[in-house]
Amino acid sequence: MEKTDLAIVHIRQLLTMAGPSRPRVREELSDCGIIEDGAILIRAGRILAAGPTERIRREFSPQDFRVVNLKDRDLTVLPGFVDSHTHPAFWGTREEEYELRLRGVSYEEIAAKGGGILNSAKRVGQASLEQITSNILKYAQMFLDQGTTTIEAKSGYGLSLDGELKLLRAIRAAAGRTPLELVPTFLGAHAYPAEFRNNHQGYLDIIIGQMLPAVAAENLARFCDVFCDRGFFSVEESRAILSAARDHGLELKLHADELAAIGAAELAAELGATSADHLEKVPPRAIKALADRGVIAGLLPGTAFNLGLEEYPPARKLIEQGVPVALATDFNPGTCFTPSLQLVVAIACCQMRLTPAEALCAATINGAWAVGLGKDRGSVEAGKRADLAFFACANYRQIPYLFGVNHCVETIKNGVPLRRLASLDNGGREPNPVSGA
Ligand code: NIG
Ligand code: FE
Repeated sequence: MEKTDLAIVHIRQLLTMAGPSRPRVREELSDCGIIEDGAILIRAGRILAAGPTERIRREFSPQDFRVVNLKDRDLTVLPGFVDSHTHPAFWGTREEEYELRLRGVSYEEIAAKGGGILNSAKRVGQASLEQITSNILKYAQMFLDQGTTTIEAKSGYGLSLDGELKLLRAIRAAAGRTPLELVPTFLGAHAYPAEFRNNHQGYLDIIIGQMLPAVAAENLARFCDVFCDRGFFSVEESRAILSAARDHGLELKLHADELAAIGAAELAAELGATSADHLEKVPPRAIKALADRGVIAGLLPGTAFNLGLEEYPPARKLIEQGVPVALATDFNPGTCFTPSLQLVVAIACCQMRLTPAEALCAATINGAWAVGLGKDRGSVEAGKRADLAFFACANYRQIPYLFGVNHCVETIKNGVPLRRLASLDNGGREPNPVSGA
C-alpha cells in the first residue's frame, strides 16, 4: 500500500508562525516560531505535528510515513503565503498605460480619461466566462510557483450586474480547477461606469438593489470591498454599500486612503471591517481607530513601487501603535502586475523598513486572518491545513535579501506536493551522529 502520510525531516529552517489564535501585533510580528532542523508530519491534508526533527523522530514511527529527508538541502520552509488582496479576474492587459505612466501621466489622469479600471471593464465585457476562468487559472499557477497557497480574489472589472456575476462565477469555476485556494470578494464598487459618472445614485441602486442580492443568493462572495477614495466612492456612498453588504451576511474590506485621506480608514473602524487596505495617506487619528477596533491594515507596497511613488504606507507607525498588518500583492493589470509575494516582502523590507521576520509573518499568518481563515491557515501548527512553501535559502532572511528571483522550489497545498518534493529527498542519508556531517 502506498503511504500518503508525509514526514518531512531535517528542514534547515522551519518558520512555523505558531502563536495565539488571532492576528499578530507589535513585537509578536517578529516571532516566526523558528525551528532549526525541523520536521513536519502531514496526515489527511493537515499538519499532524511540527517540531525539531529529533523530537518528532522520537515521538512518531517513521514506518507510518513516506519520509522525505531534506538533510543538507539548505531549505527554508514556511506556511504557504496567503495573499489577502488580489484582482485576478480580468481580461486583457494594459501595458500601454504602464508606458504612459513612465512618461509622466498619473494614474488618476489615466483613469479620468476612461483608462484604468474602466479600460479593463470594457475588455471584460467582450470576454466569455470561460476565457476569464482560463485567465485566472494561468495566473493561479504563477501564484503557486511563488509559494502562495491562498489568495483573496476580487471581482470589480465587471461594473454591471452581468459583468460582476460573470467575474465571480469565473472565480468560482477557477477555484474548482486549481489547487490554489481562492477567497472571493465582491467589488462592484470599484469605479463608477462612464454612464453613471454624473448619476452616482443610479449605480448605487444597482449595487445595493441588484448586485448584492444576486451575489448573496448564489453565495458567490465571502467579502464585499469598496474603493473608498478621492474620485471613486465617497465615505457616505461606501457606508451605504457596506452596510447593505453586511445585511446580506458578507464580511467587509475597504480600499482606503490610497490617493487621499477622505475618512475611509475611520469608516473601516466604524464598521468593524476585517481589513482596510492601501493606507498610503492614513492620518494619525485613523491609525488609532484601526488599532482600537483590531482592523487589519492590508499593506500593498508593490503598488507604490510599480507606480513609482515616493510615499509608502506608514508601516512602522501602524505596527508601533498596535495595528495588525498584512502584506499582499494587490495583483491587478493596472497598478501592480505581480503575483510574487516574495518580491513584495522584499519591497516591504527596503521601502517600509519591516524586518524580514515581520514581513514574512505579515504575508502568512496575518494574511490568513485578513481573509478570515486565520484559524485554519497561515501557520504550521497541529490541526491546520498542510499548506507549505519551500525556499532554496539557508535561512529566511535570504528570501528578501536576494531579491528578484523565485526561491520557491516546492509548494504543498492541503498536504499534496505540487511539484518536485521527491527530488528534494537526499536519498535517506542521515547525519553522522559522531561528526554531525
Ligand atoms: O487596486 N486602488 C487602486 N487601484 C486599483 C487598481 C485597479 C486597476 O487599475 O485596474 C485597485 O483596486
Ligand atoms: Fe486593490
